[in-house]
Amino acid sequence: MRPTTFARAAALASALTTSVSATFNAAASTNVVMYWGQGSYQIPLLEVCQNPSVDVVVLGFINEFPTKVGGYPGSNFANACGDETFTAPDGTITHLKSNCPTIGPAITACQTTYGKKVILSLGGAYPTNYTLPTTAISNYFAEFLWGAFGPITSPPASWVAAGSPRPFGSAVVDGFDFDIESNMASPPFSDYKSRGYADMINHFKNDLYPTAAGTYYISGAPQCITPDSHLDDAMLNAPFDFLYVQFYNTPSCSARAAYNGLSTFTFDSWVSRVTTLSANKNAKVYLGLVSTFHSPCTNQALTQHDSQLEQMVPHTIPLLISTLRRPTL
Ligand SMILES: *[C@@H]1O[C@H](CO)[C@@H](O)[C@H](O)[C@H]1NC(C)=O
Repeated sequence: MRPTTFARAAALASALTTSVSATFNAAASTNVVMYWGQGSYQIPLLEVCQNPSVDVVVLGFINEFPTKVGGYPGSNFANACGDETFTAPDGTITHLKSNCPTIGPAITACQTTYGKKVILSLGGAYPTNYTLPTTAISNYFAEFLWGAFGPITSPPASWVAAGSPRPFGSAVVDGFDFDIESNMASPPFSDYKSRGYADMINHFKNDLYPTAAGTYYISGAPQCITPDSHLDDAMLNAPFDFLYVQFYNTPSCSARAAYNGLSTFTFDSWVSRVTTLSANKNAKVYLGLVSTFHSPCTNQALTQHDSQLEQMVPHTIPLLISTLRRPTL
């Protein structure tokens, strides 16, 4: 996932609705997911939620992971936060942003006024040095995120009482996304790209999510080559709800390949791998596209011209999907 994943012009075209969207249906084949959080000139989160075409907003990113039990992760939401960060109890100045005043209220409005689901994404494309070396760190990181961004009536009541960080205040996210793109010149351990994610997801799903009322999700954003070098192990061993496959970074398997008529487009391979091998064989495979012409990846994506439409995303994404739709979608 690259910076600037949301196009301002496209959002303005259909902003200013006051109607509450229909109840979210996790199984629907018409859902549109939008990443938000990167880009110096991005529109406010609330404006994304005011767009009736959008069903799920993914906030990116928690882009540094704790390196030890007791450590803090780091975050980056570009222009939505000031420079201030939390200080850990041991006095360490962390990279976890503490001054993002509009995000929490926007999350709550997105959910209650506009009927959206809001998911917090881990990883991203900068920096790419994050790892989960041990099961203890995987579990601790999940517990940290559940305390910091999960429901404050679950075990995190003690989290709040202890004065531990709530970067978005009382706002509660609907789940966590794994956009794992780690890449290091000197691997700290051989399987650093894939290790620890299944453990972390299973801890969320089996131990933490059941402690609260309501439904919480896990999603992932693999590259289009399958099996994905980062998330295949997690997919086979832990239950994802949604996979937003990035059909734009890799020329051979991108949506552009499909438009050009190349048989190397991997949508069907993804559906096949998920439905036969993944821990959750009902995980939903999404067609991940770039939503702005300013992205470095636009030559791998569909363009305004390709789609023969006046305006690109987000409200035209369902049309693009139907253009590409296979019987298996
Ligand atoms: C990863 O890179 C960032 C940015 O250079 C740095 O601040 C952070 O300390 C690094 N983390 C690790 C675990 O090396």
